[in-house]
Amino acid sequence: MNKMARPPVPGIGITARYPEIGTGPVDTAIYHEPAIYEKEMKAILRRSWYMIGRIEQVARAGDFFTYFMPTFQQEVLVCRDRNGEINAFHNVCSHRGNVVEHRREGHSNGLFMCRFHGWSFDLEGNLARIRDEEGFFGLDKTCLGLKPIPMGIWEGFIWVCPEDEPYQSLEDFLGDQGRDTAGYAWGACTKSYQTEAEVACNWKLINDSPAEVYHIPVLHPHSAAPTMMASGNVMGRLLDVRIAGNHRTNSHYSVMGEPKPVQKLAYFHAAAAQNVARDDLDYEMPVGINATRSPHWTVDLIMFFPSIAFTLSAGMYTAHQVWPMGPNRSIYQQRIFVRPARTAAERFGQENTMVEFRDIVMEDFSTLERIQRALDTGQIRQFHYHDHELALRHQHHVVTRILAEYDRELEGA
Ligand code: FES
Ligand SMILES: [Fe+2]
Repeated sequence: MNKMARPPVPGIGITARYPEIGTGPVDTAIYHEPAIYEKEMKAILRRSWYMIGRIEQVARAGDFFTYFMPTFQQEVLVCRDRNGEINAFHNVCSHRGNVVEHRREGHSNGLFMCRFHGWSFDLEGNLARIRDEEGFFGLDKTCLGLKPIPMGIWEGFIWVCPEDEPYQSLEDFLGDQGRDTAGYAWGACTKSYQTEAEVACNWKLINDSPAEVYHIPVLHPHSAAPTMMASGNVMGRLLDVRIAGNHRTNSHYSVMGEPKPVQKLAYFHAAAAQNVARDDLDYEMPVGINATRSPHWTVDLIMFFPSIAFTLSAGMYTAHQVWPMGPNRSIYQQRIFVRPARTAAERFGQENTMVEFRDIVMEDFSTLERIQRALDTGQIRQFHYHDHELALRHQHHVVTRILAEYDRELEGA
């Protein structure tokens, strides 16, 4: 991306493109009412797909990882079998329910042995061995394999659905958002770092947090603002918001506002970070990334409603994943994916980015917990969204619409 003279500040008028979403204040009940959360669980959360890892984590036959989905209290075991297939199972032993594999990741010699009584399962989930089998009463081993969990792969990401019978296919769930962002060099960023936080707020507030940059000059004056907000963008305007069904994308404007010296140095060396192009990044972006093809583009925030968003620039991306835990409690996981550093200087740049992202998130979350208190005590009953807070308005619109459809579904049942 070329370094340009300071770009013109984006105008307002994005919301007007989506008249069905409206412009008025919105009711805040969906952010705190327990009964609404219960309904969301059935109508939205259990009907969605969740990204739990990447195919590179199970590159060879026998490689495995486990992943706990806090919202559903379900643990998944993912492995690659000897036919090269990736399988995903509930990590639950068919003897008496212990987890079969305790480790977060590793390599299996072909069997997973439950560490309670020693039943063993192969890479295809078949029950291979029962210790002291003759003491059992005519068990049919063919019916006692690990239970598969619905799994699909998109662009190297492994997704699972908590329901035995998914409400919709992964392809339908991802919809246009999945089609239009396929083709980005997702697989090139093979190194990842993860942080996790438990936050006392509703899951939708966490999604809202990176979904507007209106707050950046005010809340993040020392962390994000120096690099994300050119001085000509003091109000925190976006380039564009693109809505695709239940999903949406924010395109961020401007390159390198006024970085501090250490940021300048770090970003220069973290060739894969921010918008400093590396030679091999010169490929055509998919139509859904920097959709307006603006030369002033830096980052897209690509949301796959309800639980995962990717902050994506030309050479690195971050996955923001929220796991709802109740009407006012959530778990947030941040995974930063980068290309392997080739030099110590690049590594320094990547580490700097990571630390900066962590600081930004901490600044965000303390604010979210205060907002949640105001919601829980009934002190704020409406939110008022700016034109460039359209992504938040859209999320509110989508949740409200799905809950109303669910009510009609129940009435018709
Ligand atoms: S619970 Fe797994 S062997 Fe008994
Ligand atoms: Fe923020």
